[in-house]
Amino acid sequence: MTAQTASDPVANRVVIVRDVATLQAAVAAWRAAGERIALVPTMGALHAGHLSLVAAAKRRAGRALLSIFVNPTQFAPGEDFNSYPRSLAHDVDAFAAAGGDLIFAPEIEAVYPEGFATTVLVGGPAKAGLEDKFRPEHFAGVATVVAKLFQQCLPDAAIFGEKDYQQLKVVERMVRDLDFGIEIVAAPTLRAKDGLAFSTRNEYLSAAERARAPLLYAALIRCAGALRDGAAMDVALASARASLQNAGFAVDYFEARHAETLAPIAALGAAPVRLLAAVRLGATRLIDNVAV
Ligand code: PAF
Repeated sequence: MTAQTASDPVANRVVIVRDVATLQAAVAAWRAAGERIALVPTMGALHAGHLSLVAAAKRRAGRALLSIFVNPTQFAPGEDFNSYPRSLAHDVDAFAAAGGDLIFAPEIEAVYPEGFATTVLVGGPAKAGLEDKFRPEHFAGVATVVAKLFQQCLPDAAIFGEKDYQQLKVVERMVRDLDFGIEIVAAPTLRAKDGLAFSTRNEYLSAAERARAPLLYAALIRCAGALRDGAAMDVALASARASLQNAGFAVDYFEARHAETLAPIAALGAAPVRLLAAVRLGATRLIDNVAV
């Protein structure tokens, strides 16, 4: 089915597919023609951050495939599954303008058919005590849906943003452990001019909260700089947490971790270090991270 939602002729070249047979026929035809296929898995409501992932897909492969599926199993009861923004017409236009080829937007039955009884449980980075501490079922839902989307879309590569750094590490672990044979490409976080990372949930911020939100990135950058300048880890982290609390954020975590395993790190040394943080500003939860 060709996009009916967009009046722009460019958008009308993007194909929207809802069933797996049609999707796999398109992918097989591209592969038979010698083309590489890169998947950008999303939950839709595309913003500039997503479009930077599409650009990374286009650099990696001849064909960019976007999946749009608001995955119920990664939301806990009481989280924003029902209110999560959905904007297919806008997404089609944005993806087409970014040079994308095909959108896979399955109905719930195509992902979780009647009787579905499988869960992919990743250990290691999925149990690091970061997002998993606050959203205990989240990565089981993410890993299960990403495994399913990989099997349905059969891409050569898949692009994940560093913005969701723990998710990226969980997917990398899963792909290695289960021999998916898919190249996982990490794309750098795209930020607004004031430093706030693009995120769908930024929409939930009031104007006053939006003005304060960049303080999260500022605290991460300042802490990384202090560590590089020789500050003691516990002192630098405590100071960052305190500065955010004083600015009105509730801090879920602000931690230094091994950049690959996400194991705790007590001091800067030879290992690559990542600072990861999650904070709440009013009703909105923000996550971000930087390399040290
Ligand atoms: O990052 C997201 O948007 C989602 O967690 C993903 C990877 C599409 C799985 O639902």
